[in-house]
Amino acid sequence: MVATADPDFADLAQAEIMAVAPDSRLAMLVDGVWLVETAVSFFDLADQWQKEPPIFVRHINPVQASLSLRGQPSDIYALSDLLQAELIDLIDPDLPFSVQARVLGQQPYKAFDLNQTLAQTITAVTNAPLDVRQPVQILSVVVGAVRGPERGYLGLSLAAHNLSDWAGGRRRFARDEAQISRAEFKLLEAIETFGIRLPPRGVALDLGAAPGGWTRILRLHKQYVTAVDPARLHASLQADPDVRHLRLTAEAYLEASPDQFDLIVNDMRLDARDSARLMVAYARHLYRHGTALMTLKLPQANRQTVLDHSLNILRRAYTISAARQLFHNRSEITLYLQPKSYDKISEA
Ligand SMILES: C[S@@+](CC[C@H](N)C(=O)[O-])C[C@H]1O[C@@H](n2cnc3c(N)ncnc32)[C@H](O)[C@@H]1O
Repeated sequence: MVATADPDFADLAQAEIMAVAPDSRLAMLVDGVWLVETAVSFFDLADQWQKEPPIFVRHINPVQASLSLRGQPSDIYALSDLLQAELIDLIDPDLPFSVQARVLGQQPYKAFDLNQTLAQTITAVTNAPLDVRQPVQILSVVVGAVRGPERGYLGLSLAAHNLSDWAGGRRRFARDEAQISRAEFKLLEAIETFGIRLPPRGVALDLGAAPGGWTRILRLHKQYVTAVDPARLHASLQADPDVRHLRLTAEAYLEASPDQFDLIVNDMRLDARDSARLMVAYARHLYRHGTALMTLKLPQANRQTVLDHSLNILRRAYTISAARQLFHNRSEITLYLQPKSYDKISEA
């Protein structure tokens, strides 16, 4: 299979692969993308990770056929021939499909060209419907070299098996004119990835809100927002009557008898363990049906220890529903949390 992660978290991603497939031999295609050889079948591993997803491995796809390439435009047709010879019979004509190509390195064609030609081949032979946004089956194509000449690797799987619906887990969003910060993409990706449904006209608390990207996204989801941050919010939010900005630290707001909330989000630039302790203290201010979402900033050194410690702190008050290093996260991961019932909360 091919596995992908943020290069900064390569060590932790590799450890996750070794934990489920200890015989794995990893060969780097480019930074953060590995060809993984293991006796564990892709589908067994994908099933296991569907139940308990890894944090750092962002995307996987199987390799069922490969061939060496010549570095010429005709490689596209060679890959189309390989698809027809080896994989096309496995495609279900009734299910929407997509082709997700990645070209790692310089080639006389782009991923887009591969996507187009191979999708045309599949449609012509099987009549399966192409659906790039919500495919059920995905043909993954990776062009890259471990050592020596480039090879093309093809694999067919269900989107649900790949850990992300996007090629290599690269979920991109269109830039919005009104965007306040790049951090907005993190919240958009988390809402989509974790399937978060915000209550209609819910009441949200945004800890570490400035300059206000997350607050803006929450407003687009019709939430009333209390934005807590000593720093200024963007001018476009200052005039919004459904945004209350408290120029306080999260610690100071906690002392000021906060309200109850349907959702608490936290993107504070803070030591992961301190941030976790604050979230535990705030758990009492979430309604029972409420949820919380936070980024956990991980240091360069002792990341695994800091992560384990932070998760253990959070477990005093929350069930951790999901933890993922998302495409828009940098030196951090995103957690989706459900509060435990109040009587089960232990002191932080
Ligand atoms: C990465 S920025 C948040 C970006 C924001 N989510 C957005 O979309 O625009 C981190 C923010 O955390 C705030 N922060 C750091 N420590 C804090 C604390 N103890 N209480 C409240 N805010 C804090 C900083 O002032 C900074 O504005």
